[in-house]
Amino acid sequence: MVKERINEILEEARKDIESANDLEALQEIRNKYLSKKSELMSLMSALGSASPEERKELGQALNMAKGEIATLLNEKQEILAKKALDEKLKKEEIDITLPGTSYTRGGKNPFHVVTDEITEIFLGMGFKVAEGPEIEQDLYNFELLNIPKDHPARDMQDTFYINENVLLRTHTSPIQAHEMQASNGGPVRIICPGKTYRRDDDDATHSHQFAQIEGLVIDKDINIGHLKATLELFAKKMFGEKREIRLRPSYFPFTEPSVEVDITCANCDGKGCSMCKGTGYIEILGGGMVHPNVLKMNGYDPEVYSGFAFGIGIERVAILRYGIDDIRKFYQNDVRFLHQYRKKA
Ligand code: DAH
Repeated sequence: MVKERINEILEEARKDIESANDLEALQEIRNKYLSKKSELMSLMSALGSASPEERKELGQALNMAKGEIATLLNEKQEILAKKALDEKLKKEEIDITLPGTSYTRGGKNPFHVVTDEITEIFLGMGFKVAEGPEIEQDLYNFELLNIPKDHPARDMQDTFYINENVLLRTHTSPIQAHEMQASNGGPVRIICPGKTYRRDDDDATHSHQFAQIEGLVIDKDINIGHLKATLELFAKKMFGEKREIRLRPSYFPFTEPSVEVDITCANCDGKGCSMCKGTGYIEILGGGMVHPNVLKMNGYDPEVYSGFAFGIGIERVAILRYGIDDIRKFYQNDVRFLHQYRKKA
C-alpha cells in the first residue's frame, strides 16, 4: 500500500513539475515534495517501524522517488531560470537605432573670449594679473589717483554710492593704488581685468556696468617708449600684425603726459571708411605716464621711479573684434547671439 502511494506521489510530482511555469511555482513544488514536512519525508521517517524486508524495499522505492523528483526539479529549474533571464533581457533591450537625446554645447560669451585673449597677451609680456574690490572707497577710486573731491573729472564718473565714501568703482584704476601700496615702493607690472560701474544711460554704446583692463608698470627708468612699444605689441597681437598705432595727446588726472591710443582701422587698412568715420583710425584705449602725485601718494619717489598706465575697455575691444553693434548683447545671454561666437571660441 505504501509503495503504491509512493508511486502516486511520484506521478503527481512529475505532473506538477511539468506544468510549473516559473521559478516561484517550482520552489513551491520543491517544498511540497522534498521538504521535511512533505509526505515523502514522513513516509521516510515511518520506515523505522517497518519490518527489515519492508524497510529495504520501501527505502529503495522512497530513495528512487526522491532522487527522480530532485533531478526533475533541477532540470526544470535550469529551463525556467534561462527563460526568466531571456525575458529580463528582452525587457531591458535597448533599441540602438532610436535617435538619442541631443544636448547643445555651450560656449564662452565673446566678452570672456576677448578678456582671456587680452590677458594672455599681457601675460606673455611678463605682466601678472591683479584684482581689486568692486565696492571701493572714494579714496582709492579718486583721491589717490589725483582726483580730489572738487575735481571736474568726477563729473564724467558719477556712480552708485553706498555712502559718502564708499561707491561702486568707476574704473579699474583704483587697483593701481592698491598694488603700488602693496609693493612697498618696489617695481610693479600688472594688468587688472574687472567690472566697473557708472551712472549712465543704457543704450547701444553705454551700460551702467561694463569692464576694463587696467595696466600698470612701475620701475626705474620707465619712459613713454615702453608704453608705446607695449601697446603696439598688444594691438598687433589682438587685431593683426598689420595694425599700426598712434598716440594722441589727451588728459587724465592720474597720468602726465596722457595719451589716447588709436589703431589703424582693420576694415579699410587706414584708408578711411564708414567704420572709422573716414579717419583711418579707431580709438582703443587711454594711457600715459603715471602722474608724480600718484607715485608720491602711493609710496614712491618720483625722482627715482616712473611708470606707465593704461586702461582698455573690454567690450569695446570685443565690439571691434567681432563687429558687434550693441554693448547690451554681452549681458543679455541670448543664445542666438552667443551661438554665433561658439566656433570662434
Ligand atoms: N580710468 C580711465 C577711464 O576709465 C582709463 C584710463 C586712462 C586708465 C588712462 C589708465 C590711464 O590707467 O593711464 O576712463
